[in-house]
Amino acid sequence: MAYIQPNEPTKALTISSFLKMHSAGEKITCLTAYDASFATLFDQIGVDVVLVGDSLGNVIQGHSSTLPVLIEDMVYHTLCVGRNLKRSYLIADMPFASYGNSDSALRNAALLMQAGAKMVKIEGGSWLVPTIEHLVKQGIPVCAHLGLTPQSVNTLGGFKVQGKSQGQAQQMLLDAKHLEQAGAQMLVLEAIPSSLGKSITNHIQIPTIGIGAGPDCSGQVLVMHDALGAFPGRQPKFVKNFLALGGSIEKAIELYISEVKSGAFPAPEHCFSD
Ligand code: KIV
Repeated sequence: MAYIQPNEPTKALTISSFLKMHSAGEKITCLTAYDASFATLFDQIGVDVVLVGDSLGNVIQGHSSTLPVLIEDMVYHTLCVGRNLKRSYLIADMPFASYGNSDSALRNAALLMQAGAKMVKIEGGSWLVPTIEHLVKQGIPVCAHLGLTPQSVNTLGGFKVQGKSQGQAQQMLLDAKHLEQAGAQMLVLEAIPSSLGKSITNHIQIPTIGIGAGPDCSGQVLVMHDALGAFPGRQPKFVKNFLALGGSIEKAIELYISEVKSGAFPAPEHCFSD
């Protein structure tokens, strides 16, 4: 059964919808999408947030990292994804090195907003405070991203779980508070111990969206190819193939939504311990 009933009027979700869901304890569902067909399907089935992730560098372009993705690529896919959305909220990733200073961040974020994004996502800690303040002042909502930040794979030394030591965990919590104070309105947490995902979620007011960050985040996100078992090769621990269980793409997405909303996903086997 679809989460959104066929004749239910569809009202576009806004950032206020997510704050309400977060305070009411209703989990937020998010999937990546890169084209109009999947995005429209996710919208109709009831996925709350559609993210045009720079993971398109991996799953669409075949690169081994997100570093080669250009702002032009993100604009093109954001236009495709946004064209027919009615209810889902559209977030677009700012790609590698496109927000190194406030001026370039504003120029590139504006291109994504003009392509249909309602919010842009940027990866990094407290050093982003001036950039976030600048974007928010110009009317551009920002989602921050902490933990395993794939654009920093070369400084992190690989795709590794982050925040495992007490020092790292304390720094990440401090970063989260600074990003919220700067004006970020959502926070993605990737590949961190569940205890840290819970602690960050409890210490800030804005919704957290986890991917390998435990069951206590305000919502969950997966790369659509991972949720549909469509990406060859080794899968991270936090991935679950909903197509194998659902049997069709529609059923797989319905199952993803119902498991996130009920808290059944992520289960302990998808989570990292301290
Ligand atoms: O690029 C992406 O798809 C992402 C999600 C994995 C959060 O940033």
